[in-house]
Amino acid sequence: MLFITRRERFSSAHKLWNTSLSDEENNKIFGKCAYPNSHGHNYQIFVTVKGQINPKTGYVIDAKNLKSIIKKYIIDKTDHRNLNMDVDFLENINPTIENLLVKFWEQLEAPIKAEGCNLHKIKLIETENNYGEYYG
Ligand code: NI
Repeated sequence: MLFITRRERFSSAHKLWNTSLSDEENNKIFGKCAYPNSHGHNYQIFVTVKGQINPKTGYVIDAKNLKSIIKKYIIDKTDHRNLNMDVDFLENINPTIENLLVKFWEQLEAPIKAEGCNLHKIKLIETENNYGEYYG
């Protein structure tokens, strides 16, 4: 089994906000992350796939195909947008690192499988001090 990782970057605005809670509760839990006019991050996403080497190509996955999948399903939808308002698959989702990882996984799993390998891990870096990893 081999593992191949592709990194992509996107910049998005967000605020941490649970739409099912009151304004007061949101402000108490999320503090300055809940400021009403949002704030931004330069995110990095690392998508790791696992599989066997295709003897014809020598690849587990063609990196340009992996790049295209991440671009189509994540970057084109999130880059320079507001994660609370502009992204179809994030509707009513509080855009924490954790929730983003789960929703990104749902976006990427099937198209990566169609390439003949499996999604293994997504790592999402939000700031130089905060990142998360998800294995599905
Ligand atoms: Ni933030």
